[in-house]
Amino acid sequence: MVYFGRMSSPPVYDPYAYEIHDDPYSVYKRLRDEAPAYHNRERGFWALSRFQDIYDAMHDWQTYSSHGGVALEGSGKAPPMIIAMDPPRQVKLRRLVSSVFTPRRVAQMEPHVRALTRKHLLPLLDRGAIDFIDDFSGKLPMEVISVMLGVPESDQAKLRQWSDLLLHREPGNPSVTPAGMEAAGNLVRYFASDLHRRRQQPGDDVISGLLAAEVEGERLADDEILGFCFLLIIAGNETTTKMLGNAVYLLWKHPEQRQLLVREPRRIADAVEEVVRFDNSTQMLARVLTRDVDLHGTTMPKGDRVILLLGSGNRDERAFERADQFDVTRPAQQHLGFGFGIHVCLGASLARLEGRVALEEVLSRIPDYEIDERGMERVHSPNVRGYAHLPMRLRRS
Ligand code: HEM
Repeated sequence: MVYFGRMSSPPVYDPYAYEIHDDPYSVYKRLRDEAPAYHNRERGFWALSRFQDIYDAMHDWQTYSSHGGVALEGSGKAPPMIIAMDPPRQVKLRRLVSSVFTPRRVAQMEPHVRALTRKHLLPLLDRGAIDFIDDFSGKLPMEVISVMLGVPESDQAKLRQWSDLLLHREPGNPSVTPAGMEAAGNLVRYFASDLHRRRQQPGDDVISGLLAAEVEGERLADDEILGFCFLLIIAGNETTTKMLGNAVYLLWKHPEQRQLLVREPRRIADAVEEVVRFDNSTQMLARVLTRDVDLHGTTMPKGDRVILLLGSGNRDERAFERADQFDVTRPAQQHLGFGFGIHVCLGASLARLEGRVALEEVLSRIPDYEIDERGMERVHSPNVRGYAHLPMRLRRS
């Protein structure tokens, strides 16, 4: 399939095309300018690409329902997750875990996150070359969320492998691969047997807390607890791993900005924000329409699927000056990277903390490095953008 036409033909956006994964931004621009309520008949979805339209849709859950899941192809046989629910159940379940992820609670985790960062980073410094994803950024977020969930270190590598497999798509193909299906089954079975163990021996982790929690006098169903395990392990790991990879890649491409951060590390928090705006690891979220919606001269019918292209909205010239320029000194501004409204990212404070601490530690020890672009490998998923492999040579000063 051709993923976008010549300038004279209408734009075509296919979220499963590998070419799109390589460079979605030129197609996004055409969508914003020429087809802001874009319809892909072949795949049967609409796409909103402008900042304001996405922002409005995120605040209107009554119209843009999450009940079909955030993946265009739906959430399949996954256990029920708050990210794929509407109120009132979503609000009630989210409340059970939200206290663990408040900015204040997360700020208290900084010494722990820094210690884990150093644990993974320091042994790499004597090596001339590393794979930033395999050796560092794939491990840190998984360990942070695993400690919160009470998952032992010995199980983390296989959980990460399963969640990677689940996201992968073959070129042009929306289906979860057979290996991905097997991985999903493995994840469910792993946590199901874990629930049994924890009922016998409760700990002070998030999952044990959910086992004891009640909503309106009733305990949660097992599959709802499994849904939390599934969601937190995937959301807590994939997006942050890829965000860190995108950050070191962009800072390699922009050495003057990297040097600025090395000289003035207090700017790193803003740099994390700019990475999430400029090249977000979460590119899009799906919704289902609960009523007909008239937008930009077209009617999107009730029951159709709509995708919100956050990665496009964050490059919208209507919302950002010099939207296509990566600039870590950009004044703080609202972006779509962590979402808005009732589903706003539960782990945003944690992701920001991990991003800042990891970049502080990496840049203070590895101020200069070379990325081997030929060895880089992209993740192929319509939702998640980032690298599966990022080979890096550490330069000695
Ligand atoms: C750079 C890293 C991250 C990015 C870019 C990101 C992005 C997002 C976005 C855009 C949403 C909104 C989904 C929607 O509206 O349908 C979301 C929801 C969510 N995120 Fe994150 N996320 C990140 C890290 C994390 C982490 C570390 C956690 C771990 C706890 C996490 C847990 C969640 C959960 C549980 C939801 C669903 C909330 C709900 O439906 O009420 N995220 N995330």
